[in-house]
Amino acid sequence: MSLTILVTGGAGFVGSHTVLELLNAGHEVICVDNLCNAFGASNSKLPESLKRVEELAGKSVLFYDVDIRNRDGMRGVFKKHKIDCVAHFAALKAVGESCRIPLQYYQNNITGTSILLEVMEENNVFNFVYSSSATVYGEPQKLPLDENHHTGNCTNPYGKSKYFTEEILKDLCQSDARWTVISLRYFNPVGAHKSGRIGEDPNGEPNNLMPYISQVAVGRRLCLKVFGDNYDTPDGTGVRDYIHIVDLAEGHVSAIQKLVSGELNGFVVYNLGTGRGYSVLEVVDAFSKASGKDIKFEIVDRRPGDVAISYADVSLAAKVLGWTAKRGLKEMCEDTWNWQRSNPNGFAGSN
Ligand code: UD1
Repeated sequence: MSLTILVTGGAGFVGSHTVLELLNAGHEVICVDNLCNAFGASNSKLPESLKRVEELAGKSVLFYDVDIRNRDGMRGVFKKHKIDCVAHFAALKAVGESCRIPLQYYQNNITGTSILLEVMEENNVFNFVYSSSATVYGEPQKLPLDENHHTGNCTNPYGKSKYFTEEILKDLCQSDARWTVISLRYFNPVGAHKSGRIGEDPNGEPNNLMPYISQVAVGRRLCLKVFGDNYDTPDGTGVRDYIHIVDLAEGHVSAIQKLVSGELNGFVVYNLGTGRGYSVLEVVDAFSKASGKDIKFEIVDRRPGDVAISYADVSLAAKVLGWTAKRGLKEMCEDTWNWQRSNPNGFAGSN
């Protein structure tokens, strides 16, 4: 069945890869993005990431340069299209920045989501997929992290905005049975599409490990700082569950198809991860092999707010959505490198 999906934040890393997989699965996609974190589109119809998605899919994407907090702008989009489901990626996501400008994080991530939900309700659209994060689990009490693990002890406004929004979504589903909401808790999305045409393009200095490593490999940064080597892990560095972005995107396609099938009710949550953790040094080593480059690094102090180990129990998504991640660390590094070396300056050096 071909669906019409409204994707907010469709120009970003997770959004653009998901748009591509939705088009590949035969769905129609309408994107809304305020382009605060995306390159291009000032004097053309589409941001660069979505132009490339169109090329890869051989199909077009309808794009609206609208901020989700702009109620009338959003109403206009819903008036023009009959939407089956909304996949909501539009959000601010930098942990450090969220501590400096918390109000902007709460305004974008919480108020923005509330306005989007209100406009959906006005237009009788009640299917919603939410882009959540493993950060809602806080310090793991038990590993692997399953969906019943306690949530909420988040240490920064970004994480809290994800947690609070999940709580809002729960209350909404409790109050009105017409709503079905899937919250997808991402572990650590990395990698890029095989073609190397789309990938992660952080603004300024990357906060996350994989884009930092790839910028060292391509010569944009001198040296990776490894945040601590005295954790209680096999080599002392932090362990995370890295998931290939295309697996993550396919997880969204499965979730959306399940959502519109009508088999689910209310608020449901699935982890999207691989179920396997790798340390910082294991990722550095795998990237070095994939790229043939030496990755210079130095050990520095721990980063405040980091946990030692995080990895997912992925059995629920496998059971209910029929989805599991297929791509391993080697492929994650190869695809990141393929994107980075063919786009050393991200989308800005467009070709
Ligand atoms: C981070 C955020 C998390 C967010 C996720 C989005 C923090 C504390 N957490 O997760 O809230 O949902 O990104 O993708 O920022 N590392 C280095 N050097 C670096 C960068 C990272 O050693 O330059 C280490 C970290 O200490 C960690 C691992 O690499 O052990 C992964 O870090 P990162 O990619 O930032 O992801 P998370 O911290 O897991």
